Amino acid sequence: MTEHEASDAPDVDLAELLALVREIAVQAAEFAAEARRAGVEIAATKSTPTDVVTATDRETEALIRARILEARPDDGILGEEDSMLIGTSGLTWVVDPIDGTVNFLYGLPGWAVSVAVVAGPPEPSSWRALAGVVVNPSTGEVFEATAGGGARLGERSLQVNEAVPLGRALIGTGFGYSAERRREQAEVLLEVLPQVRDIRRAGSAAVDLCALAAGRLDGFYEQGLNPWDHAAGALIAREAGALVGGPRGGSESDELVVAAGPGLYEELSGAIAAAR
Ligand code: IPD
Repeated sequence: MTEHEASDAPDVDLAELLALVREIAVQAAEFAAEARRAGVEIAATKSTPTDVVTATDRETEALIRARILEARPDDGILGEEDSMLIGTSGLTWVVDPIDGTVNFLYGLPGWAVSVAVVAGPPEPSSWRALAGVVVNPSTGEVFEATAGGGARLGERSLQVNEAVPLGRALIGTGFGYSAERRREQAEVLLEVLPQVRDIRRAGSAAVDLCALAAGRLDGFYEQGLNPWDHAAGALIAREAGALVGGPRGGSESDELVVAAGPGLYEELSGAIAAAR
């Protein structure tokens, strides 16, 4: 076994896997950015009237799925816009074709293509993320990481900010699409906001987690994320030195994702737990 192989994963070379994830994510981002330039409209709504999908979300995911099936037909695929494909290899691709769809729709920067490959059950609390890439076409940035291999923005290694006290921390967060969920999120925010430097709501959890990895945020949390929103970003943040977890000291889940440098993580998690 080489240092590029993951001990509990099927026989896979992480450098090769990352190269494939990067190639597919970059191609998908170019496709989506070109579609954005040509003009975008809402194709349908999903969980609520504010939870929109554009034709480009669907077409970008279809492109990603076709590329995965061509290169690795035995892998599973868990994507935002289509049904789960169960694989036989033990690996699953976790795909958000456009994270930050509302930014994409309005022509705001800060949407991204997010692609990760995980080993084990396709469930954030039990999978092991092996490789992840987040491409932000508005800035041309490509963030990437492999398990144990560190995180990079292009050629540059990433490192989270360390030893930032909560009172000096810039924290990213986000809001879901249901009114009930937003009320809960607002209640938590009401308690957290007075305790921190400030809050940012940029509109893409994947971009937020990469911003944390790059030291542009000190921490991030959100209640109610889907696995594809955070699979790649959480690996990139972890590999940049962040602690990433969920509720009650457990793993990240659809209930809660919290991420911050080791000096801030406990204080931030504690403030969120007290607010909930
Ligand atoms: C959304 C973004 C947003 C977060 C929402 C997510 P989508 O993903 O990540 O930042 O606050 O909870 O649903 O719908 O644009 O793929």
